[in-house]
Amino acid sequence: MTRVLFVVSECAPLIKTGGLADVAGALPIALAACGDEVRTLLPGYRSVLPKLGKTKVIETYDNLFGGPAKLRACKVAGLDLLVIDAPHLFDRDGGLYGDQSGDDWPDNPERFAALSYVAAKIAKSGVGKWMPDIVHGHDWQAGLTPEYMQTLGADVPFVFTVHNIAFHGNTSGDRLIGLGLDSARFHADHFEFWGQISALKAALMGAAKITTVSQTYAEELLTPEFGMGMEGVLRHRQSDLVGIVNGIDKDIWDPATDPNITPYTTPSGKAANKKALQKTFGLGQSDGPLCVLVSRLTEQKGIDMLLAALPALLDQGGQLALLGSGDPRLEVVVLEAAETYENMSVKIGYNEALSHQMIAGGDVILVPSRFEPCGLTQLYGLRYGTLPLVALTGGLADTVINASPAALATNVATGLQFFPITTRALANAFARLGALYVQPKIWKGMQRNAMKQPVGWETSAAEFHAIYASLSKAGD
Ligand code: ADP
Ligand code: GLC
Repeated sequence: MTRVLFVVSECAPLIKTGGLADVAGALPIALAACGDEVRTLLPGYRSVLPKLGKTKVIETYDNLFGGPAKLRACKVAGLDLLVIDAPHLFDRDGGLYGDQSGDDWPDNPERFAALSYVAAKIAKSGVGKWMPDIVHGHDWQAGLTPEYMQTLGADVPFVFTVHNIAFHGNTSGDRLIGLGLDSARFHADHFEFWGQISALKAALMGAAKITTVSQTYAEELLTPEFGMGMEGVLRHRQSDLVGIVNGIDKDIWDPATDPNITPYTTPSGKAANKKALQKTFGLGQSDGPLCVLVSRLTEQKGIDMLLAALPALLDQGGQLALLGSGDPRLEVVVLEAAETYENMSVKIGYNEALSHQMIAGGDVILVPSRFEPCGLTQLYGLRYGTLPLVALTGGLADTVINASPAALATNVATGLQFFPITTRALANAFARLGALYVQPKIWKGMQRNAMKQPVGWETSAAEFHAIYASLSKAGD
């Protein structure tokens, strides 16, 4: 049994902007089944504290980066949480990482330095009688943890998971003192990155083991195209880098018991959900496939490419139902497209229940991302017999079996992939989709294959369990 401290900036079901929260909400439970004990350290955002129920104050800080703070322990949704109640950092309107207009909070360096510093304090002294054997940080928000562990003399192995290398958590070198960092370590071997402080680099250099969320992304990260400037650092750490694909929570995403839908266990059970979904989105009946997309609206997700390729889907009777929110410019663009095309309908916003209805009612789930470290919606699609049509990149490459002639001949295909990641290749994929959709025997076979895929956490949790065990033993 290994005691693990998760350090993470979001966690489902309490607070979520993307898949990171799903991982933080589900992996500790899968690890418990392997015998490990996880406690999760999380910022006490304004919307989080009221959801905690009864909490116990287990630590107080007179001055945590500019104000007093408390550490609250509680149990929510099967998770053991340690929540940092620091009003000056986390009690505010707006988003987790930025204000209403989408600009980053100017004090983000301090906000997430606080998260990392408290993690290091726990690594050093524990909470109550509980001492972690491993500290496991996720993305740049937890990145400074090994630096503070070094300063405090906490000798606990640090594991770091890269969910998305696009975010570096960089800030000016002028903030060294304010952030309480060791200026002697402000150089390229530690957390200095082109003259700036980089929380991400601190983690990549300080981790005993680096994981990322799929094997393909682990390889892509080493290239200039996907490494986003960190490829050199990652090549340096290559021998300690491993790809472990994300799973999904199979209880929350189960078509047989999902309370948001008309439940089903075979592909034919999807029909009632499709009808309901068409109604929800104001789409009529159609002979072609109903494609759905549930996503943050950002450059990463390839929405502009999708819109350019869309006639290839709609011209053959296909339909598109899209749910998303994010970049205000992209929100306008998708709404305008929905005005133009009769068979496209859009809902802007974040809606958990509707996302389940879409995954259940769609024939196809689209994930045309330019890059995708893992991606979760294609995994939901597989489990619900909603075939993924995805770009060949990252976790999308690893979790979908493309309907190639060979895969169809051997009856193993679970979806469609397109490459290169261009409008033209996506349009070609829509043409292939149309051809498959009108062959019910093949289509049903693919749906059955999809629904049998192992998309849970079991295998991946066992890999983390083994990493923790080997590192904590090495440290004994
Ligand atoms: P990313 O983390 O890059 O956003 P993932 O595919 O890993 O991508 O995870 C996205 C998660 O957020 C999924 O659980 C998806 O269903 C959910 N999601 C994204 N946008 C919305 C939305 N508008 N409404 C409901 N759920 C959403
Ligand atoms: C990131 C990635 C996504 C991944 C998620 C959870 O947000 O963009 O691909 O699934 O993290 O690891």
